[in-house]
Amino acid sequence: MPLRPPAVFIETFGCQMNEYDTELVRSILKDSGYRFTDSADTADVVLLNTCAIRENAHNKVYGHLGALKALKEDKGLVIGVLGCMAQNLKKDLLEENSLIDVLAGPDSYRALPELLEKAAAGRKGMAVDLSEYETYTDITPDRIEGVAAWIAVMRGCDNFCTFCVVPYTRGRERSRELDGVVREAEALAASGCKQVTLLGQNVNSYRDGTHDFADLLLAVAEVRGIERVRFISPHPKDFPEKLLEAVAGHPRICKHIHLPLQTGNDRILQLMDRTYTRAEYLALVDQIRTRCPEIILTTDIIAGFCSETDKEFADTEDLLREVEYHLAYIFQYSERKNTIAARKYADDVPAGVKAARVTKLVEFQRGISLKKNLEMIGKTVEVLVEGEGKRSRDQWMGRTGGNIVTVFPKTDTSLKPGSLTSVRITDATVTTLYGEAV
Ligand code: SAH
Ligand code: SF4
Ligand code: F3S
Repeated sequence: MPLRPPAVFIETFGCQMNEYDTELVRSILKDSGYRFTDSADTADVVLLNTCAIRENAHNKVYGHLGALKALKEDKGLVIGVLGCMAQNLKKDLLEENSLIDVLAGPDSYRALPELLEKAAAGRKGMAVDLSEYETYTDITPDRIEGVAAWIAVMRGCDNFCTFCVVPYTRGRERSRELDGVVREAEALAASGCKQVTLLGQNVNSYRDGTHDFADLLLAVAEVRGIERVRFISPHPKDFPEKLLEAVAGHPRICKHIHLPLQTGNDRILQLMDRTYTRAEYLALVDQIRTRCPEIILTTDIIAGFCSETDKEFADTEDLLREVEYHLAYIFQYSERKNTIAARKYADDVPAGVKAARVTKLVEFQRGISLKKNLEMIGKTVEVLVEGEGKRSRDQWMGRTGGNIVTVFPKTDTSLKPGSLTSVRITDATVTTLYGEAV
């Protein structure tokens, strides 16, 4: 190790799981004597923690790599690519003029200190093997202290939805033990954190040999000092009654369920191998709303999957109309190498048609989101204050239990980030509620 510890800059792309992994990587590197900096210009090592879920996620990373070229030539920057794209980049690394010195996949972060040391001495290296066991449960993530934190409770995915690259980039499902997760939540609470979000690709598959996900959620909700518990994502194919009871019945479990639909058409659902039908999904929504009427539902949609016709696409729009989600993330289908869909089906919906379908759904959903938010006017909601509003330092910004951003004037001087307060809603836009503390 040189006299001055090398400075690392990490940039994170993709989902919350990657955000969490970046915190693990920071912890591993800190223990090996590295320090951190907040820009590539002041760094000795730049790490990109990458996402492979859609083509544009890929392109973003290539764009950033290109921008680092000059810095690398100037001052011999070490460049590492971590995360879900690492697997796909093996070939590039081996090419002679590649900018990349180090590759590490999601299960190989313990190897990073050694890989970086070798890279500093001019030897490129990679660690991209997937593990059936690695959960990093003994590593305490190095977090930016704040009101909210993520905890990964399981890693990997065994579902193999035909469109999805995650089972290939993150490997097989494995869960952490309940005790380890609870201890992490307790440590977070002791450091002032008020909200934890439990993360997994399909949290309903969580199993530690003794406990299922509902047990885990309830145990975390009982940790003293944790005011709110969230989770993402459950898969609609196996949403147990016990989990619904936990969400509906526990005051500190947020009344918000993100329930990825993907498509409202049965033939496309089958091609995606989602293993539920439109009718089964709608029955689940009904069951959830009957047991917990105040629940906020959100979803993910893919438009333009292989062979989707206009008529089949219309089934998705129709389902959005019927369910009226509070929010929907709408993506155009992006073929990923090696997935089942890439091997079995033609990516035959023209790009223009895909884009038009996304635009149509986004517009349609905006109308519903606005309507839902306007319905909140006059109601009083509980908001967890996260910080100052973006537009004005005289306002607080926080979220409702349903995860809706809420902005209100700083009239109550006793509030601070981490405070829970009641806010009466007076106005709303598609994305934000406005109100006053009561
Ligand atoms: N495990 C989570 C999803 C993680 S990926 C779950 O099943 O809920 C997040 C979202 O990205 C998915 O729900 C899906 O809507 C979208 N997605 C995944 N693969 C995609 C692809 N090839 N093209 C477009 N969108 C995709
Ligand atoms: Fe991908 Fe399906 Fe696993 Fe979600 S459940 S990560 S969409 S394979
Ligand atoms: Fe997340 Fe992207 Fe990997 S969504 S799991 S970082 S492919």
